[in-house]
Amino acid sequence: MKRLAVILFCLPALAFAAGGYNEHVESAPINLKDRVSLQNGAKLFVNYCMGCHSLKYLRYERMADDLGIPHDMTMENLNFTSERIGDPMLNAMDPKLAEQWFGAAPPDLTLTARLRTSDWLYSYLINFYEDESRPYGYNNRVFPLVGMPHVMASLEKELGEEAFREEMADLTNFLTYAAEPMRLERERLGVYVLIFLFIMFWPAYFLKKEYWKDVH
Ligand code: HEC
Repeated sequence: MKRLAVILFCLPALAFAAGGYNEHVESAPINLKDRVSLQNGAKLFVNYCMGCHSLKYLRYERMADDLGIPHDMTMENLNFTSERIGDPMLNAMDPKLAEQWFGAAPPDLTLTARLRTSDWLYSYLINFYEDESRPYGYNNRVFPLVGMPHVMASLEKELGEEAFREEMADLTNFLTYAAEPMRLERERLGVYVLIFLFIMFWPAYFLKKEYWKDVH
Protein backbone atom coordinates (compact mmCIF):
# COMPACT_ATOMS: atom_id res chain seq x y z
CA MET A 1 0.00 0.00 0.00
CA LYS A 2 2.79 2.35 0.95
CA ARG A 3 4.67 1.54 -2.21
CA LEU A 4 1.60 2.32 -4.31
CA ALA A 5 1.25 5.69 -2.62
CA VAL A 6 4.89 6.49 -3.37
CA ILE A 7 4.45 5.53 -7.03
CA LEU A 8 1.25 7.59 -7.33
CA PHE A 9 2.97 10.53 -5.73
CA CYS A 10 6.01 10.28 -8.02
CA LEU A 11 4.12 10.06 -11.33
CA PRO A 12 3.15 13.75 -11.62
CA ALA A 13 6.63 14.71 -10.44
CA LEU A 14 8.13 12.53 -13.18
CA ALA A 15 5.87 14.05 -15.84
CA PHE A 16 6.90 17.48 -14.59
CA ALA A 17 10.59 16.60 -14.71
CA ALA A 18 10.25 15.18 -18.23
CA GLY A 19 9.15 18.61 -19.45
CA GLY A 20 5.48 17.65 -19.69
CA TYR A 21 4.49 20.80 -17.86
CA ASN A 22 4.42 24.22 -19.48
CA GLU A 23 2.45 27.19 -18.19
CA HIS A 24 1.29 28.11 -21.71
CA VAL A 25 -0.41 24.77 -22.38
CA GLU A 26 -4.17 25.25 -22.44
CA SER A 27 -7.10 22.98 -23.11
CA ALA A 28 -7.76 22.23 -26.80
CA PRO A 29 -11.39 22.69 -27.92
CA ILE A 30 -11.55 19.54 -30.05
CA ASN A 31 -14.55 17.46 -31.09
CA LEU A 32 -13.94 14.24 -33.01
CA LYS A 33 -17.59 14.07 -34.06
CA ASP A 34 -17.33 17.35 -35.96
CA ARG A 35 -16.60 16.23 -39.52
CA VAL A 36 -16.45 19.73 -40.98
CA SER A 37 -13.73 20.59 -38.48
CA LEU A 38 -11.82 17.36 -39.25
CA GLN A 39 -12.05 18.00 -42.99
CA ASN A 40 -10.77 21.54 -42.55
CA GLY A 41 -7.94 20.18 -40.38
CA ALA A 42 -6.98 17.70 -43.10
CA LYS A 43 -6.91 20.51 -45.68
CA LEU A 44 -4.75 22.66 -43.39
CA PHE A 45 -2.37 19.78 -42.72
CA VAL A 46 -1.87 19.00 -46.41
CA ASN A 47 -1.39 22.67 -47.31
CA TYR A 48 0.76 23.88 -44.46
CA CYS A 49 2.50 20.92 -42.84
CA MET A 50 2.99 18.10 -45.29
CA GLY A 51 5.85 19.84 -47.09
CA CYS A 52 7.91 18.84 -44.07
CA HIS A 53 5.94 16.36 -41.94
CA SER A 54 4.46 12.98 -42.85
CA LEU A 55 1.61 10.92 -41.36
CA LYS A 56 3.15 7.57 -42.20
CA TYR A 57 0.72 5.38 -40.22
CA LEU A 58 -2.36 6.86 -41.90
CA ARG A 59 -3.47 6.04 -45.43
CA TYR A 60 -5.28 8.52 -47.69
CA GLU A 61 -8.07 6.01 -48.21
CA ARG A 62 -8.75 5.49 -44.50
CA MET A 63 -8.75 9.25 -43.92
CA ALA A 64 -11.13 9.84 -46.85
CA ASP A 65 -13.56 7.16 -45.64
CA ASP A 66 -13.48 8.19 -41.98
CA LEU A 67 -13.90 11.89 -42.75
CA GLY A 68 -16.52 11.40 -45.47
CA ILE A 69 -14.42 12.85 -48.31
CA PRO A 70 -15.03 11.21 -51.74
CA HIS A 71 -11.99 9.36 -53.16
CA ASP A 72 -11.75 11.44 -56.36
CA MET A 73 -11.82 14.66 -54.34
CA THR A 74 -9.10 13.28 -52.06
CA MET A 75 -6.87 12.42 -55.02
CA GLU A 76 -7.41 15.85 -56.58
CA ASN A 77 -7.16 18.12 -53.55
CA LEU A 78 -5.38 16.26 -50.77
CA ASN A 79 -3.03 13.67 -52.23
CA PHE A 80 -0.03 15.44 -53.75
CA THR A 81 2.51 12.82 -52.77
CA SER A 82 1.43 9.53 -54.35
CA GLU A 83 -0.51 8.01 -57.24
CA ARG A 84 -2.69 5.68 -55.23
CA ILE A 85 -5.41 6.32 -52.67
CA GLY A 86 -4.23 3.30 -50.65
CA ASP A 87 -0.78 4.81 -49.97
CA PRO A 88 0.34 6.10 -46.58
CA MET A 89 0.62 9.88 -46.19
CA LEU A 90 4.37 10.23 -46.76
CA ASN A 91 6.33 13.16 -48.14
CA ALA A 92 9.51 13.50 -50.13
CA MET A 93 11.66 15.47 -47.70
CA ASP A 94 15.12 14.07 -47.09
CA PRO A 95 15.59 13.99 -43.28
CA LYS A 96 19.34 14.64 -43.61
CA LEU A 97 18.84 17.81 -45.65
CA ALA A 98 16.04 18.90 -43.32
CA GLU A 99 18.38 18.57 -40.38
CA GLN A 100 20.87 20.87 -42.10
CA TRP A 101 18.18 23.45 -42.81
CA PHE A 102 16.32 23.48 -39.49
CA GLY A 103 18.77 21.96 -37.01
CA ALA A 104 16.40 19.01 -36.50
CA ALA A 105 14.49 16.75 -38.87
CA PRO A 106 10.69 17.31 -38.87
CA PRO A 107 9.28 14.25 -37.03
CA ASP A 108 6.39 12.16 -38.31
CA LEU A 109 3.22 13.53 -36.73
CA THR A 110 0.88 10.51 -36.78
CA LEU A 111 1.22 9.81 -33.05
CA THR A 112 2.15 13.25 -31.76
CA ALA A 113 -1.30 13.99 -30.35
CA ARG A 114 -0.98 10.90 -28.16
CA LEU A 115 2.68 11.36 -27.29
CA ARG A 116 2.40 15.05 -26.46
CA THR A 117 -1.39 15.32 -25.89
CA SER A 118 -3.85 17.36 -27.97
CA ASP A 119 -3.66 20.24 -25.49
CA TRP A 120 0.10 20.53 -25.97
CA LEU A 121 -0.25 20.38 -29.76
CA TYR A 122 -2.93 23.08 -29.88
CA SER A 123 -0.98 25.33 -27.52
CA TYR A 124 2.22 24.81 -29.53
CA LEU A 125 0.47 25.87 -32.72
CA ILE A 126 -0.93 29.11 -31.26
CA ASN A 127 2.19 30.10 -29.34
CA PHE A 128 4.66 31.22 -31.98
CA TYR A 129 5.94 34.76 -31.41
CA GLU A 130 8.34 37.12 -33.18
CA ASP A 131 11.94 36.84 -31.98
CA GLU A 132 14.71 38.48 -34.01
CA SER A 133 17.39 36.32 -32.45
CA ARG A 134 16.04 33.12 -34.07
CA PRO A 135 17.19 32.10 -37.59
CA TYR A 136 13.65 32.24 -39.00
CA GLY A 137 12.51 35.20 -36.90
CA TYR A 138 10.12 33.26 -34.63
CA ASN A 139 10.28 31.45 -31.32
CA ASN A 140 7.69 29.38 -29.45
CA ARG A 141 6.48 29.67 -25.85
CA VAL A 142 5.57 25.99 -25.54
CA PHE A 143 8.65 24.65 -27.38
CA PRO A 144 11.44 27.21 -26.76
CA LEU A 145 14.12 27.46 -29.48
CA VAL A 146 12.16 25.16 -31.78
CA GLY A 147 13.75 24.49 -35.19
CA MET A 148 10.45 24.74 -37.04
CA PRO A 149 9.76 28.05 -38.80
CA HIS A 150 6.36 29.70 -38.12
CA VAL A 151 4.85 28.45 -41.36
CA MET A 152 1.41 29.86 -40.57
CA ALA A 153 2.68 33.40 -39.85
CA SER A 154 0.90 34.97 -42.81
CA LEU A 155 -2.28 33.00 -42.06
CA GLU A 156 -2.20 34.24 -38.46
CA LYS A 157 -1.80 37.86 -39.58
CA GLU A 158 -4.50 37.55 -42.21
CA LEU A 159 -7.09 35.90 -39.95
CA GLY A 160 -6.45 37.62 -36.63
CA GLU A 161 -6.09 35.87 -33.26
CA GLU A 162 -9.63 34.49 -32.78
CA ALA A 163 -10.11 32.97 -36.24
CA PHE A 164 -6.54 31.65 -36.25
CA ARG A 165 -7.21 29.80 -32.99
CA GLU A 166 -10.28 28.18 -34.55
CA GLU A 167 -8.24 27.01 -37.53
CA MET A 168 -5.57 25.57 -35.23
CA ALA A 169 -8.28 23.83 -33.19
CA ASP A 170 -9.43 22.13 -36.42
CA LEU A 171 -5.86 21.14 -37.24
CA THR A 172 -5.42 19.72 -33.72
CA ASN A 173 -8.73 17.92 -34.06
CA PHE A 174 -7.50 16.29 -37.27
CA LEU A 175 -4.14 15.28 -35.77
CA THR A 176 -5.97 13.85 -32.73
CA TYR A 177 -8.09 11.77 -35.09
CA ALA A 178 -4.94 10.68 -37.00
CA ALA A 179 -3.29 9.49 -33.78
CA GLU A 180 -6.17 7.08 -33.11
CA PRO A 181 -8.67 6.64 -35.97
CA MET A 182 -10.50 3.95 -33.96
CA ARG A 183 -11.26 6.22 -31.01
CA LEU A 184 -14.86 7.16 -31.85
CA GLU A 185 -15.68 3.56 -32.73
CA ARG A 186 -14.05 2.36 -29.51
CA GLU A 187 -16.02 4.79 -27.39
CA ARG A 188 -19.29 3.83 -29.14
CA LEU A 189 -18.61 0.11 -28.64
CA GLY A 190 -17.62 0.66 -25.01
CA VAL A 191 -21.14 1.82 -24.15
CA TYR A 192 -22.66 -1.37 -25.61
CA VAL A 193 -20.14 -3.53 -23.77
CA LEU A 194 -21.11 -1.89 -20.47
CA ILE A 195 -24.84 -2.33 -21.17
CA PHE A 196 -24.21 -5.99 -22.04
CA LEU A 197 -22.25 -6.57 -18.83
CA PHE A 198 -24.99 -4.93 -16.77
CA ILE A 199 -27.70 -7.15 -18.28
CA MET A 200 -25.59 -10.34 -18.06
CA PHE A 201 -24.84 -9.68 -14.40
CA TRP A 202 -28.39 -10.50 -13.24
CA PRO A 203 -28.92 -13.98 -14.75
CA ALA A 204 -25.35 -14.88 -13.75
CA TYR A 205 -25.97 -13.71 -10.20
CA PHE A 206 -29.28 -15.57 -9.72
CA LEU A 207 -27.91 -18.69 -11.38
CA LYS A 208 -25.01 -18.68 -8.96
CA LYS A 209 -27.42 -18.29 -6.05
CA GLU A 210 -29.51 -21.19 -7.31
CA TYR A 211 -26.49 -23.51 -7.76
CA TRP A 212 -24.98 -22.77 -4.38
CA LYS A 213 -28.10 -22.71 -2.22
CA ASP A 214 -27.80 -26.40 -1.20
CA VAL A 215 -24.10 -26.19 -0.49
CA HIS A 216 -24.35 -23.39 2.07
C1 HEC B 1 9.44 24.11 -43.23
C2 HEC B 1 9.26 22.80 -42.67
C3 HEC B 1 8.13 22.62 -41.68
C4 HEC B 1 6.80 22.84 -41.89
C5 HEC B 1 6.11 23.32 -43.17
C6 HEC B 1 6.12 22.44 -40.67
N1 HEC B 1 7.02 22.00 -39.74
FE1 HEC B 1 6.61 21.29 -37.89
N2 HEC B 1 8.59 20.98 -37.55
C7 HEC B 1 9.60 21.24 -38.45
C8 HEC B 1 10.87 20.92 -37.83
C9 HEC B 1 12.24 21.05 -38.49
C10 HEC B 1 10.58 20.43 -36.52
C11 HEC B 1 11.57 19.94 -35.46
C12 HEC B 1 11.89 21.10 -34.59
C13 HEC B 1 12.82 20.80 -33.44
O1 HEC B 1 12.87 19.65 -32.97
O2 HEC B 1 13.49 21.76 -33.01
C14 HEC B 1 9.14 20.50 -36.38
C15 HEC B 1 8.46 20.13 -35.23
C16 HEC B 1 7.09 20.09 -35.11
C17 HEC B 1 6.38 19.62 -33.95
C18 HEC B 1 7.00 19.12 -32.66
C19 HEC B 1 7.02 17.63 -32.72
C20 HEC B 1 7.64 17.02 -31.53
O3 HEC B 1 6.98 16.17 -30.91
O4 HEC B 1 8.79 17.37 -31.20
C21 HEC B 1 5.05 19.69 -34.23
C22 HEC B 1 3.89 19.31 -33.35
C23 HEC B 1 4.93 20.25 -35.57
N3 HEC B 1 6.18 20.47 -36.07
C24 HEC B 1 3.73 20.49 -36.19
C25 HEC B 1 3.61 21.08 -37.43
C26 HEC B 1 2.35 21.42 -38.04
C27 HEC B 1 0.98 21.12 -37.45
C28 HEC B 1 2.62 22.01 -39.23
C29 HEC B 1 1.64 22.59 -40.21
C30 HEC B 1 0.89 23.73 -39.74
C31 HEC B 1 4.07 22.02 -39.39
N4 HEC B 1 4.63 21.46 -38.27
C32 HEC B 1 4.75 22.53 -40.49
C33 HEC B 1 9.47 21.72 -39.73
C34 HEC B 1 8.27 22.09 -40.32
